[in-house]
Amino acid sequence: MKPTVLIVDDEKNIRRTFEMVLRSAGFTARSVETGELALRELAARPADLVVLDVRLPGIDGLETLHKIREREPQQMVIMVSGHGSIATAVAATREGAFDFIEKPVSKERLTVAVRNAMQMRDLGRRVRELSDRDESRRVMVGESPAMQEVRAQITRAAPTNARILIAGESGTGKELVARAVHEASARRDGPFVKVNCAAIPEELIESELFGAVKGAYTGATASREGKFLQADGGTIFLDEVGDMSLKAQAKVLRALQEGEIERVGGTETIRVDLRVLAATNKDLPTEVAAGRFREDLYFRLNVVPIAVPPLRERREDIHLLAEHLLARYLDANGLAQRSFAPEAIQQLEQLTWPGNIRELGNAVERLAILGGSEVIGLEDLQRCGVGDDLPGRAAVAFSATSEDEPMPLTTAAVRRLGGLVAARQKFEQVCIATALDESGGNVSQAARLLGIDRTNLHKKIQRHELTDDRSSAKPEEPA
Ligand SMILES: Nc1ncnc2c1ncn2[C@@H]1O[C@H](COP(=O)(O)OP(=O)(O)OP(=O)(O)O)[C@@H](O)[C@H]1O
Ligand SMILES: [Mg+2]
Repeated sequence: MKPTVLIVDDEKNIRRTFEMVLRSAGFTARSVETGELALRELAARPADLVVLDVRLPGIDGLETLHKIREREPQQMVIMVSGHGSIATAVAATREGAFDFIEKPVSKERLTVAVRNAMQMRDLGRRVRELSDRDESRRVMVGESPAMQEVRAQITRAAPTNARILIAGESGTGKELVARAVHEASARRDGPFVKVNCAAIPEELIESELFGAVKGAYTGATASREGKFLQADGGTIFLDEVGDMSLKAQAKVLRALQEGEIERVGGTETIRVDLRVLAATNKDLPTEVAAGRFREDLYFRLNVVPIAVPPLRERREDIHLLAEHLLARYLDANGLAQRSFAPEAIQQLEQLTWPGNIRELGNAVERLAILGGSEVIGLEDLQRCGVGDDLPGRAAVAFSATSEDEPMPLTTAAVRRLGGLVAARQKFEQVCIATALDESGGNVSQAARLLGIDRTNLHKKIQRHELTDDRSSAKPEEPA
């Protein structure tokens, strides 16, 4: 459908000329003589754009503009004036006019202004759509038993006010879990404030979390609120909590114990009502044992633990996730629909994804933007280097290769391996390393897995310099 432009001008000639110009430029054009009529007309039949004269009988252009935008804040308006004054232009812009043009108006100037306004309007729409659709970022995809368990835990814990410690490798979706808890809680209309504990310099953490009064320290030129206060009535999410310094931990512990905070340099204590969620990709019990994390704080935070499993432990979710992420990126970039070939999905399912869903997301984004064909196949994966980052593990994903299935090696990986002899060596090395990982460093078990005897495996371990700390990490069972 052609975009509609409403022209508002008391001069008949102008109305006629503008209508003609705009029609020949591909728009539908209508016109009225006064501001009042414009308002009435817009109420009856919305227009994509209003071209509005400043000087009008009755209510003037600026006031009309004000009224239009009051009713319809997104309405695009271009002001036209025969008596160009900077002051009017400024006032019009302040009222939200998109452009201001002076009479006499050339055909070109009018067309360009209208086209720009339409483009701007489309862009604005697009941005709003995207931010609406931002919801799709919150969707938690996955039907694996592991994900169903995570969902069940969220449902159980969200309505309570209990503190939750979300643990999981990087990129597994910890933040998504935290947001889901907030959304499913009675605090969903309150703020959700995320604090990245790893990113705040030690000397600033206190003021960042609890706020500071003006002049509390050098550089504190204004008082600041602090994240705890911002989260009042809602949820505070302490992300990467395992990376907080011991000093900061003491401060946080106090705030959690007392339920109140004190600004840096302030004297009053402020009560805050918030729920605390925390996440970490570290193993906090280990950190506690090593003296890097306060045990008392650990117990305070870990009332309800939720463990988010790594992607390699829920490979059955990869298919759904890949499709979901692909749709999301195609959408976000305004690209045409595309889909995955079954072989491509199989390949994605075989990779180990040490960066978990974030890494899968990056790979899919690359495919969405760079991949050529409508159906994304193995060649596209190769061309976009998906899986190349991990020549060994990816290609030789141990569990994935069955005897009659060809190895999912990319050309790039083969090339990089540098010839058959080197490749064979590499292959052996990766198999051994994987088997050792799998068996937790137990050489006998790894040898069984590899179908060779233990002495032979020992030799190979030495030859491949797979160091003995892995093989001697666990006591060996008698062969
Ligand atoms: N189950 C899921 N369904 C859909 N998208 C997901 C899912 N899990 C994670 N994602 C997406 O993967 C990305 C990483 O998730 P998120 O930031 O929550 O992970 P994280 O565990 O906090 O990672 P990090 O440790 O790196 O901070 C986000 O873009 C998120 O939207
Ligand atoms: Mg995170």
